[in-house]
Amino acid sequence: MQPIIEVQNLSKTYQSGFQALKNVDLSIRKGEIFALLGPNGAGKTTLISIICGIVNPSAGKVRADGYDIVKDYRRARQLIGLVPQELAVNIFETVWSTVTFSRGLFGKAPNRPYLEQLLKDLSLWDKKDSKIMALSGGMKRRVLIAKALAYEPKILFLDEPTAGVDVELRRDMWEMIRQLRDNGVTIILTTHYIEEAEDMADRVGVIQRGELILVEDKHDLMEKLGKKQLSLQLVEPIEQIPSALSAYSLSLSEDGMQLTYQYDHQSDQAAIARLLRSLSDEGLDYRDLHTSQSSLEDIFVSLVEEKV
Ligand SMILES: Nc1ncnc2c1ncn2[C@@H]1O[C@H](COP(=O)(O)OP(=O)(O)OP(=O)(O)O)[C@@H](O)[C@H]1O
Ligand SMILES: [Mg+2]
Repeated sequence: MQPIIEVQNLSKTYQSGFQALKNVDLSIRKGEIFALLGPNGAGKTTLISIICGIVNPSAGKVRADGYDIVKDYRRARQLIGLVPQELAVNIFETVWSTVTFSRGLFGKAPNRPYLEQLLKDLSLWDKKDSKIMALSGGMKRRVLIAKALAYEPKILFLDEPTAGVDVELRRDMWEMIRQLRDNGVTIILTTHYIEEAEDMADRVGVIQRGELILVEDKHDLMEKLGKKQLSLQLVEPIEQIPSALSAYSLSLSEDGMQLTYQYDHQSDQAAIARLLRSLSDEGLDYRDLHTSQSSLEDIFVSLVEEKV
């Protein structure tokens, strides 16, 4: 299937001479939720801004549903909704006129019931006649979402949509985004709350210093790079790991009370059973044991650290 967004060999050098993107290749599949992760200044907003036609690329090509974003700008842009990281609305306008104007701008016929439902879904309906300057920060972010969805785009970019949004509304927002995906909208988002990406994304891309260092199915990524850990709380402290246990990759806490066993997903339960048997052969008693698994956040941090 043809990707809905195709980015080829994209580079960006700002006028200052700073190179913000280096030869980025990326294909976004129709109907997926794609999370673009990366530290501050990595180039996420630059990439999104180029795809949305706000920033000019220095080199490379971008197509949205087959339309070149430079040559076929209007056609490409109609398909794309952008929720920008920074406030980009006229603060003297009301919420209602902002969304109706946005719908008209992209050539869609008026549809009051649609816009009304949209504002209700975003808990903005009671603010529809307020000027944007009179809204709270979290409400302003939701207006940006309403503005982007006002013309029913097929592709939605969300650049840090939940920054500054309270926990409950954030949950509602994600529910809404899932529904959009279920209705066939392709979603590309950035977030610094990695657990959101872990929760929501089908695929994950990591960008660092302008380079896309990884693109992977989320489950595959967690399977491949995720580590599992078994922690054993000992009854008596030990000074060192007994040599009979050297075959296992064990580490001992400083106080000598906790043994940690690292294993990957492929290792079978049998290895753990063997380890537990060896422990009892060595006369080591433990009072507690638990397993944990690394989160997408752990994986992200280790990826980004490695490349420094
Ligand atoms: N207009 C500009 N002129 C010069 N440099 C810029 C411009 N816009 C961005 N940059 C630089 O490009 C780099 C990437 O910025 P960008 O906004 O794309 O990062 P980001 O990944 O979105 O970061 P954040 O997580 O903080 O939003 C940064 O070093 C930034 O200073
Ligand atoms: Mg940004």
